[in-house]
Amino acid sequence: MIATATRPLLQVKDLCVDYLTESGPLRAVDRVSLDVARGEFLGIVGESGCGKSTLLFAIARLLSAPAEISSGEIWFDGKDMVSMDEDQLRHLRWSGYSVVMQSAMNALNPVMTIAEQLGDAIQAHVRMRDRQLRSRSQELLKVVGIDPVHLHSYPHQLSGGMRQRAMIAMALALTPDLVIMDEPTSALDVVAQRSLMVKIKQLQREFGFATIFVTHDMSLVSHFSDRLAVMYAGQVVEVGQTRQVFAAPKHPYTVGLMRSFPSISGPLQTLTGIPGSPPDLAHPPSGCRFHPRCPKRFDRCPGEEPDLYSNDQVLVRCFLFDDR
Ligand SMILES: Nc1ncnc2c1ncn2[C@@H]1O[C@H](COP(=O)(O)OP(=O)(O)OP(=O)(O)O)[C@@H](O)[C@H]1O
Ligand code: SF4
Ligand SMILES: [Mg+2]
Repeated sequence: MIATATRPLLQVKDLCVDYLTESGPLRAVDRVSLDVARGEFLGIVGESGCGKSTLLFAIARLLSAPAEISSGEIWFDGKDMVSMDEDQLRHLRWSGYSVVMQSAMNALNPVMTIAEQLGDAIQAHVRMRDRQLRSRSQELLKVVGIDPVHLHSYPHQLSGGMRQRAMIAMALALTPDLVIMDEPTSALDVVAQRSLMVKIKQLQREFGFATIFVTHDMSLVSHFSDRLAVMYAGQVVEVGQTRQVFAAPKHPYTVGLMRSFPSISGPLQTLTGIPGSPPDLAHPPSGCRFHPRCPKRFDRCPGEEPDLYSNDQVLVRCFLFDDR
């Protein structure tokens, strides 16, 4: 048993998630293992369809049919999340961990004011007098940079950026230890995105919550995440300190991803990207899943599956880093 102080806040071990489709199971998350420490900001990147949202939904226990966790473990603050029933999960949602999804328009209730929704989220866990609840809600809106006059607005009366901020206010209402975010800024323009990210980071420092943040935007993760996990075809292919992964990407896919984005600080380089497209997860390639697109593949790659190998404190799923 690991002592509470040193134990990661979240531990995901060998997690597999399948979509049970009519043509058979499709494994969208394949043996993913990840740790998140208290107060840590973990970024997850990878091309569309690689399983990022499915992984977040599994961790938050929000999967619905036809998706199911088929094996593996999820430990949150020492509690076994996989075996929890709905009742136990209800106790943990909002207060232990909360979730901010890509589109607040879908997550917020269109026929309830922001005040009513904040109130519902808070009162599901703690009883408060009306006056106390109002002042707590006003305070929360101020924290995320929204004028409290908007407490009595309906979601459609707010701008996209304000709705995302309102979602974040709800996610923070009960000061959870972990906030799970699936592309919370992607619906916004670049300026609004930046300002919301700066706010999220500031709140994280202030409240000390840990974050798992999924994005397509390499520039965002490079600025805001402590650690970075790169996913490809349902698997984690590289995970390490963000600074280190950016300075010296190891997995050929990560190298390709980095080349797909303009360098943030260095000289301008041609955006070569990664030729080809991600595989159909119903029929993943044999051996290393990246081999059909990999510029570094060699004879071992199509026939054998690489493990995650440790190299300079970074884990890499590529035979080039197999020292054995
Ligand atoms: N309802 C579903 N039924 C069957 N397969 C699904 C379903 N939803 C997702 N999938 C499959 O799971 C895979 C992972 O999807 P997921 O939404 O987790 O990817 P993602 O990395 O979040 O993509 P994006 O960046 O576009 O949001 C997809 O390739 C898709 O084939
Ligand atoms: S294992 Fe082979 S195909 Fe896969 S990333 Fe490494 S070199 Fe490329
Ligand atoms: Mg997604």
